[in-house]
Amino acid sequence: MSFHNKLINWYNENRRSFPWRENKEPYNVWLSEIILQQTRAAQGLPYYERFISAFPTVSELAKASEDQVMHLWQGLGYYSRARNLHATAKEIADSYDGKFPNDFNKIKRLMGIGDYTASAITSICFNQDHAVVDGNVYRVLSRIFGMDQPIDASGAHKIYKEKAQQLMKGAPPGDFNQALMEFGALQCVPKSPNCSDCIFQNKCLAFQQGKVSSLPIKSKKIKVQKRYLHYFVLTDDSKNTLLEKRKGKGIWQNLYQFPLIETFEKQKNFTSQELESLLNKYHIEADYVMEKWNELPVIHKLSHQLLEINFWIVKLKENANLDIQCRKMKNYPMPRVLQNFRDNFFIS
Ligand code: ADE
Repeated sequence: MSFHNKLINWYNENRRSFPWRENKEPYNVWLSEIILQQTRAAQGLPYYERFISAFPTVSELAKASEDQVMHLWQGLGYYSRARNLHATAKEIADSYDGKFPNDFNKIKRLMGIGDYTASAITSICFNQDHAVVDGNVYRVLSRIFGMDQPIDASGAHKIYKEKAQQLMKGAPPGDFNQALMEFGALQCVPKSPNCSDCIFQNKCLAFQQGKVSSLPIKSKKIKVQKRYLHYFVLTDDSKNTLLEKRKGKGIWQNLYQFPLIETFEKQKNFTSQELESLLNKYHIEADYVMEKWNELPVIHKLSHQLLEINFWIVKLKENANLDIQCRKMKNYPMPRVLQNFRDNFFIS
């Protein structure tokens, strides 16, 4: 039996049912694929459902406000994906009359859509033979076919894409792609896969050569940058606080945060001058008392950064016209680590 027949038989018996698999509507498939680039299917499911129920069509997503979109994305990380999602919905509404194009190159030109997403959409929705290459595909192919090119090297994508493309010949493209990814997600998992119960055991070079745990190969170690963030949580007698929108490139763009001082090194304390110049920035002149909220820094890991976060509670003694009512803070999309703080500090 051919590789693709074996794989698709396995898929038909083992596939999970997800709402985005219920029809081949490009909007639903696109949305699910963007979410699944951020998280696993089980964790992504509630996000997908919230998006679809708030915005059942691409035109409705196009009409949303940025804050609404960021709110629904809150917690998934990589917030540029949410901004691109919104920008692309607007482009489809404006330039394509609300109907997803079916041409691979037109789709690939949309914001936030690369080779992977364009391949997923065209294969699943339009039956076009574009093979997807994601982390699951790298892992499954490198193991079964003993491919030892480092997957993060330049040129690796092309090699794996060609291999997947060749294996796809004669198969229904959408099923083939989803089957390969599902196989990676359920059977050929990164750690301790159950090789004794695998349909490809006889064929798998990694299994035969004892290389399952060393494939796929990655050449570079990700460099992790350490950052020290100090958030100043201002409160006044009227139960108001201060939030600002993060600007510029970098993490958490356009999400809300408390006033921030970032230091180059771990810092235990701030002088009254440092704090007053922070308050001046917001035109606040009131007296205050300050105390640190967390004894040890809150550690928050991102793919390329390790954040050490401290929260400083600054109680203003006079009413300082802070503009956000604490009880309405949930209306402001925030990074997850700040949401956690908010829920602990303001709600408990
Ligand atoms: N991972 C990302 N997209 C997927 C899909 N369509 N099927 C299975 N796993 C996936």
